[in-house]
Amino acid sequence: MKVDDIKTIGVVGAGTMGAGIAQIAAQSGFNVILRDISDEALERGINIIKKSLGRLVKKGKLSQEDADAIVGRIKTTKELKDLADADYVIEAVFEKMEIKKEIFGELDRLTRSDVILATNTSSLSITEIAASTSRPDKVVGMHFFNPVPVLPLVEIVQGLTTSDETVNTAYELAKKFGKTPIKTKDQPGFIVNRILVPYMNEAAWALMEGVGSAEEIDEAMKLGANMPIGPLALIDLVGVDIALDVLEVLYREFGDPKFRPAPILRQMVRAGHLGRKTGKGFFDYKDRT
Ligand code: 3HC
Repeated sequence: MKVDDIKTIGVVGAGTMGAGIAQIAAQSGFNVILRDISDEALERGINIIKKSLGRLVKKGKLSQEDADAIVGRIKTTKELKDLADADYVIEAVFEKMEIKKEIFGELDRLTRSDVILATNTSSLSITEIAASTSRPDKVVGMHFFNPVPVLPLVEIVQGLTTSDETVNTAYELAKKFGKTPIKTKDQPGFIVNRILVPYMNEAAWALMEGVGSAEEIDEAMKLGANMPIGPLALIDLVGVDIALDVLEVLYREFGDPKFRPAPILRQMVRAGHLGRKTGKGFFDYKDRT
């Protein structure tokens, strides 16, 4: 499939990442079919998009009319079979291999045989996801960064079986989204998360060891290393559960103790303190959600 033949993009999962991906696809002129399993999840996803577009309208970068047209290009559905009309699919559901394999198996049966199936996985093996389909040459990683409308990078991940043609189409599509793609190998964490997530984890260990308070650790990294936000606020932004999922994969796959997740992350997940999305993580967001 060539990038110019792509008109309709299916997005599976309307969470923070799925909503962001649906937004930039619709903003780039594509028709989008956004799928999640409940009306609440779809409504939340559409609200994330409206809020994000609202920022642009407020700043005078986008007219309300154009914002409405963008939202109008996004069709929501609870049925995976509605993705049969998509020319390209991007999956952005939970970081659980079994769920991804199930979805890719179904997408493989539902979509046309020339359709590329991309995954936004942060760290899981593209090669393993591809093996759950009958088109492993057309499965590729397209890893976006949070907040998707703001951060320019998309990692394009080539699995062992992904064809060069598929990689090139994903690369060109990322450019059509206005992003800067970088190609990377199918290794745990790819480039960014392999380097960034251990940094975030180290901040959680430092907090547990009482090196500083959450405020002090974050302020120190902003003022001393010129980070846009502190590492603990960054965990809250990506989601404590997501950060833990990525660490578990790095720890398991490399078998290296340097990736051992700080126990506080597991405790926070058990308490439901997942960061911004639940209103509480290392910091409180009740007033901002
Ligand atoms: N949608 C649209 N626009 C947004 C937005 C959103 N969700 N969030 C912020 N923005 C825009 C703002 O409107 C503003 O635009 P402007 O420059 O045109 O005025 C701009 O982004 C800056 O926002 P703010 O002034 O509100 O706040 P900051 O200066 O703190 O910037 C930030 C916000 C861009 C999120 C910045 O804090 C940042 O870069 N943080 C680090 C993010 C990061 O590292 N993300 C990667 C996480 S790792 C990951 O996602 C991988 C996963 O697999 C784990």
